[in-house]
Amino acid sequence: MDNNVLSWGNDEARKDASPLPVADATGLGEIAEGAARVSVDDKAMINCRADVNQLLPLKYHWAWEKYLAGCNNHWMPTEISMQADIALWKSRDGLTEDERRSIKRNLGFFATSESLVANNIVLAVYRHLTNPECRQYLLRQSFEEAVHTHTFQYIVESLGLDEGELFNMYREVPSITGKAAWALKYTQSLSDPNFQTGTPDADRAFLRDLIAFYVVFEGMWFYTGFAQILSLGRRGRMVGVAEQYQYILRDESIHLNFGIDVINQIRAENPHLWTKDFADEVRTMLREACELEVAYGRDTMPRGFLGLNAQLCEQYMHFITNRRCAQLGLAPLFPETENPFPWMSEVMDLKKEKNFFETRVIEYQNGGALSWD
Ligand SMILES: [Fe+2]
Ligand SMILES: [Fe+2]
Repeated sequence: MDNNVLSWGNDEARKDASPLPVADATGLGEIAEGAARVSVDDKAMINCRADVNQLLPLKYHWAWEKYLAGCNNHWMPTEISMQADIALWKSRDGLTEDERRSIKRNLGFFATSESLVANNIVLAVYRHLTNPECRQYLLRQSFEEAVHTHTFQYIVESLGLDEGELFNMYREVPSITGKAAWALKYTQSLSDPNFQTGTPDADRAFLRDLIAFYVVFEGMWFYTGFAQILSLGRRGRMVGVAEQYQYILRDESIHLNFGIDVINQIRAENPHLWTKDFADEVRTMLREACELEVAYGRDTMPRGFLGLNAQLCEQYMHFITNRRCAQLGLAPLFPETENPFPWMSEVMDLKKEKNFFETRVIEYQNGGALSWD
């Protein structure tokens, strides 16, 4: 994590300045007329007393860099041709029943998960993350989640899928309900309009929400789905959907790494929050999340299909969980260190793989900005 801090040269203005006003976390309170200018030292991730309406001077360059990377990776689902997918989906024997089940459950899981993640950002995280450069990234991420939800609308429309079936899966398919319900309890604890950070208990509740959504939802639970669809794409099946998942995966890897940096920065600024008990609790959260994902893998692929089965997905999820533990400075939870899908990291490199699915190629400014995972 890059913790470089810019010195913005406004020390003169700060000299003999009156104490900083207590700005409210929204940035929509009374204007503190004549107050001292904001210095980087005044900025903080949570419970900040500096004006949240002032992006500059920048303090957290890692957040700004991720905002720029997100903008450079702009894409829209409608740029990707669905013709081959439509022909395959409508053909009688182009796909096996197991492949169809896996694809539909996969789409059903993602279709509402993108909205759950977006709602958590907008209605929970944004309010409590009291730093303008992080909020700038959250605004970009919110739009990307809208693009992802749009992707599933576009797929449903293109393939003529039953929208009620797909968008209700999180209420009707137990392996999907289990995951959504697990995450929702962490955002619900923040949804009380009177909830405020500022006490160790409340700050830990906020950290739990960040871990549940950034590390687990976006950083673990999307990955079985990515592996399933990208594996089909590599075999020339559902190539349009696979290309869309490739772009979503690129976005999500930045979301995940932004979340990891946010959590670690809050921890660095508030070391009293990260007690041994709390670290144990985070490990328990990651273990539970991994078990839910393994159950989802079994449900979506009861028999498996070429090159992919629930057992390999379980091994992959153990590998991913260990990786998330390391990113949070925690000891690994599982003995596995081998990634059963080494091709996943290659798929993430769009420059290398851009012709792989043989769909329309779109040039992006920054297709190589994939060092986030
Ligand atoms: Fe997303
Ligand atoms: Fe995301």
